[in-house]
Amino acid sequence: MSENILAITGPTSGIGRATAMSLAEQFDRIVLLVRNLHKGEALKNDIEKKSAVHVDLIQCDLSDLSSIKKAANMMNEQYDSINHLVLNAGVVSLTRQETKDGFEMMMGTNYIGHFYLTHLLLPLVLNSEVKQIVVVSSNGYKFSPLTAPYFKRDKFNPVTSYGQSKLGTLYLMQALYDGYHKQGLKTTAVHPGAVSTNLGKTPKNERFGNLVYKALDPFFLSPDEGSLSTVLAVESPKKYNGKYMHNGGVLRIKKHGSDMEARTSLITATLDVLNLTHL
Ligand SMILES: NC(=O)c1ccc[n+]([C@@H]2O[C@H](COP(=O)([O-])OP(=O)(O)OC[C@H]3O[C@@H](n4cnc5c(N)ncnc54)[C@H](OP(=O)(O)O)[C@@H]3O)[C@@H](O)[C@H]2O)c1
Repeated sequence: MSENILAITGPTSGIGRATAMSLAEQFDRIVLLVRNLHKGEALKNDIEKKSAVHVDLIQCDLSDLSSIKKAANMMNEQYDSINHLVLNAGVVSLTRQETKDGFEMMMGTNYIGHFYLTHLLLPLVLNSEVKQIVVVSSNGYKFSPLTAPYFKRDKFNPVTSYGQSKLGTLYLMQALYDGYHKQGLKTTAVHPGAVSTNLGKTPKNERFGNLVYKALDPFFLSPDEGSLSTVLAVESPKKYNGKYMHNGGVLRIKKHGSDMEARTSLITATLDVLNLTHL
């Protein structure tokens, strides 16, 4: 019988760390896809202290397509199947930054990076018994609809760009459901809630981020609380299949969040920019 494997992006902080710590002991192997190997090593040690799970560390910078490709190649060589793929990593940047490949940073990392990783790992997921992909999205998708040009806009608004990157992940979940549920793929997007994490506290905007977080901290969930939606999705793949979920309750998606024309246009543009023929 194949190993029961969960792979997760962004496990070195906040919600992803809490998710990995909480779920690890339910698996034979957990694959930590990290951009920072030192942080990954520390997490690996913490997980191994707590459970007997095998922990594999793979470097994957979602803001760099070549790094994603390298990580996926390693995974395709090392594993026959991945039962659950959790697309959790995320970045908030208050200033306009670009990924290595020239995409606006939030759209490029949160959406395009995960889209490309999903494309490369989908055969492994479909080859597993469970066949699940969980997307950590956000109610930030409500901030703005998405229109072309998607990836290289000159105008920058951090709230809009973050919201659009999370709307992209919601569309990704829906496209995966439509394209692959007949092959047994289960997909769920989750909203973790407002959670006290390192999100937005990158070196370039640390001061501002910290001020905002300090003011709002009493209202935020802890990372453990914020991981609940992802944990529930992983534990019940069929129950939340094709849904957008928060803490076990299915959320109604606003009109622009399920706009088929907008979704198709984004997916087509993404395939184009990544030089792919299908998701
Ligand atoms: N916090 C909230 O209130 C909230 C609300 C709704 C949705 N979310 C979503 O929840 C997810 C987790 O965020 P969080 O709040 O836990 O934030 P966080 O504490 O900042 O953790 C983000 C994780 O993503 C990783 N990451 C960032 N950029 C990356 C890149 N280029 N390549 C690979 N990994 C990268 C980080 O790695 P490092 O450790 O190396 O930085 C970290 O492990 C995100 O998708 C976010 O959009 C959060």
